[in-house]
Amino acid sequence: MKFNRRTFIKRLFIAAASIETFFLIKGSISKTHLEKDKKELFNAGKADSFEKNKPYPFLTGQFFLRRFDDGGFIAMSIKCTHLGCIVQSNIKTGGFNCPCHASQFNRFGEVLSSPATRPLDYFPITIKNGDILVDTSKPTKRKSFSKSQLTYV
Ligand code: FES
Repeated sequence: MKFNRRTFIKRLFIAAASIETFFLIKGSISKTHLEKDKKELFNAGKADSFEKNKPYPFLTGQFFLRRFDDGGFIAMSIKCTHLGCIVQSNIKTGGFNCPCHASQFNRFGEVLSSPATRPLDYFPITIKNGDILVDTSKPTKRKSFSKSQLTYV
């Protein structure tokens, strides 16, 4: 087999490109894996500072925090599940209204009137040293409200 200089350089470039491609793919897979496990904890403050049955908006965290009668906390997304507009709390009903296409949600985030078809997403909460920490990287979809979505001190 004849192996001239041109062929050698060509094969050297192909080998270098293959090695670089391998590390680029490997790096992006590792990065994706890390980002999947990444938590974005938003400190909403001390648990005992929140009154029961009152929605507390956290616009930077993009959630409403509510403490129910039994003391359980839930952090519901402020994004309407129809097309993502920002919902507003309804003082009369204790629920939420969407200004875009008039969807309404009850105080648990469940749909009262369409076009939204599913409840507001909610975020996992952990309570550490009395602080409410909301993981805003993990909005969770649900079909209805259940007590398992609440976090207690
Ligand atoms: S985005 Fe809320 S009802 Fe359409």
